[in-house]
Amino acid sequence: MNISYNEKNRVFKLDTVHSSYCIGIVDDENFVGHIYYGRKLAEDNLAYLMRTEEAPFVPSKNNRDRAAFLDTFPMEYTGNGLGDYREGSLEIRTMSGHSGVALSYVSHRIYDGKDPLEGLPATFGDAKACKTLELTCEDRILGLQVILSYSIFADSDALARSVKIVNNGQEPVYLTKVMSVCIDMDNDGYEMITLHGSWGRERAIQTRPVMKGKQSVSSIRGESSHQEHPFMAWKKRTTTEETGDIYAMNFVYSGNFLAQIEENQFGSIRAMMGIHPYDFCWKLESGDSFQAPEVVCVYSAEGIGGMTRTFHDLYRNHLIRGEYKDKKRPILINNWEATYFDFDTEKLLNIARQASELGIEMLVMDDGWFGRRNDDNSSLGDWQVNEDKLKGGLKYLVDEVNKLGMKFGIWFEPEMISPDSDLYREHPDWAIAIPGRTGTLTRNQYVLDLSRKEVRDFVYEMFADILRSANIEYVKWDMNRQLSDIGSYGLPADRQGELFHRQVLAVYEMQDRMTKEFPHLLLENCSGGGARFDPGMLYYSPQIWCSDDTDGVERLSIQAGTAMVYPLSTMGAHVSDCPNHAIGRVTPFETRGYVALAGTFGYELDVTKIPEEDRKMIPEQTAMYHKYNDLVRCGDYYRIAHYADNHYFDCYEVVAKDKSEALVTYIQVLNRPNFHSRRICIPGLDPQGCYVIENAQDWPELKQTEYMGDTLHYAGINIPPLWGDFKGRLMHLKKK
Ligand code: DGJ
Repeated sequence: MNISYNEKNRVFKLDTVHSSYCIGIVDDENFVGHIYYGRKLAEDNLAYLMRTEEAPFVPSKNNRDRAAFLDTFPMEYTGNGLGDYREGSLEIRTMSGHSGVALSYVSHRIYDGKDPLEGLPATFGDAKACKTLELTCEDRILGLQVILSYSIFADSDALARSVKIVNNGQEPVYLTKVMSVCIDMDNDGYEMITLHGSWGRERAIQTRPVMKGKQSVSSIRGESSHQEHPFMAWKKRTTTEETGDIYAMNFVYSGNFLAQIEENQFGSIRAMMGIHPYDFCWKLESGDSFQAPEVVCVYSAEGIGGMTRTFHDLYRNHLIRGEYKDKKRPILINNWEATYFDFDTEKLLNIARQASELGIEMLVMDDGWFGRRNDDNSSLGDWQVNEDKLKGGLKYLVDEVNKLGMKFGIWFEPEMISPDSDLYREHPDWAIAIPGRTGTLTRNQYVLDLSRKEVRDFVYEMFADILRSANIEYVKWDMNRQLSDIGSYGLPADRQGELFHRQVLAVYEMQDRMTKEFPHLLLENCSGGGARFDPGMLYYSPQIWCSDDTDGVERLSIQAGTAMVYPLSTMGAHVSDCPNHAIGRVTPFETRGYVALAGTFGYELDVTKIPEEDRKMIPEQTAMYHKYNDLVRCGDYYRIAHYADNHYFDCYEVVAKDKSEALVTYIQVLNRPNFHSRRICIPGLDPQGCYVIENAQDWPELKQTEYMGDTLHYAGINIPPLWGDFKGRLMHLKKK
């Protein structure tokens, strides 16, 4: 890891273990240009790549074609309105109503470590683990300073970028767009990978060619969303899982975002990511600063898999925090699909009694324990225990669960308010709303205006009191609607455009406060399933509920898309009952267990009601979780085959960092008649190592149980056809 500045050539070079990123300062006007991002280079004399000798690239010598220069030059971070017609990174409006802004280099600072971003989640590392370059640029006319930050890590090929704007001018200025990152490069026949979905089918992987014009994914829903994801990658057409160039960006933020690639008239692309400019307008008073959230950029020459593993390691080592960061999570049973709103103390205790005998370690009480909430039409905001349901109170229930040797967890939805709640009756102006308009309801609820300190303090105290009242060791923090009707009774007219972002900052502040007051708590974020599965939330909670669709087959696709970026240790995954509540499919209990093992693992069913043969399998499954979870949580993940591509089977693997063992999950989604075995290649092993199938009894068809690592990787193994659909098996390989 090194950051250097070649003063003669005016070139900055950031070197990670395998990549280099180069920035150049050119011309008398000190334009900051992007030179190179890719494989690691020894050379730092790269100024020749800036094309400054090519017409029309010399503005100070040839100002008549200034616009052509600005419209072509590979900007490191752009201004607006002065001749670059590609999408800009920074847009403003001055008090006189003008929008022009131009940036040039002023100074830089290189330091060991990485400063936190005020009020925002961000990757971290100490002076030994990180180095940071801060480039200070300025628009002298406006007195606007733009500080571009670049941090690299000793143990990673990631680059964390962020931007801070400081108003040194005399007057306020409105920021109407602040991207966090911009990278210009030539299009080398790239394809773009993005993640798409909906409720119940989050983060399906999509690949499309990068073409002329703009292609983007975004959210203007106030959360990172079910529909599109704050991640994009672009790769060469020839790049595979294991080889070839790929670049990626992932936004450490949980609200509106825009991720876009634009190819211009000359075949260059501009990739950018940041807060979506939709309804964003931040008033920056003279002397104030605005910190834009961080984007993590990754370059890998080792294909899509290399990119994935870089993200996984970075997030496990430099983003996720807290007591459970590196720890096995308790196997939980959640009563949502078991009872929905229809439960009481006795029902929950019956579930807990059975569950504790089967090896389940924590009971989570989901939605419906407070106010008068017997369905989803009321009581959000009234965080007082409903003692008609919980006879004897919450503490009694928690104590009884603890007596069974189990932990206890609870569900909250702190960001919401039901119109039918005491809180709303008392404070109707605490909901986000546009005065004079009837508010848009979703699931019969409004969003609380958390930009107001008195609102977030009040709500925090209410739920913190519940947490203080009993031995609660886990919280599921849910958020079941998107934002609309953007209006705050607490903000002046010229700050209404800050509400979307202030709301996200408020959620971060509340979660920060909660994790500080309750440092031993295991927090799982959730948003109507997986609508807020993003690195921002991972900074506060080591796990996030992946999706409300717990079907074993649907989950293969949801988890493959999620694991494209996020470690398996973060993916909330449960075994649920059949027919599945989201899709009506019936799959074997065994297969549901194998699929959930790739995440945090738990149950979402009434263990007192499921078929006896399923119940009998639970002790085996919980034992498997204990046996494999260290490997799954800490190992290297490889995608081998995906049924969304081939329609028949799914296969993925986790290899221990020291290559001493690997766990291969094979799921035959659909059987085929009259079909022979399937050749599966198993990557990531020690090529010279001899591996034994440790669970050979599960593979009676295989005559041979010992293989060399390189043989398994390049020649593979023949997986026999399994009888029936939705069948699965695990293969545990151990190095001799
Ligand atoms: C959505 C979550 O994803 C579910 O697991 C459950 O907690 C419900 N909300 C409760 O309302």
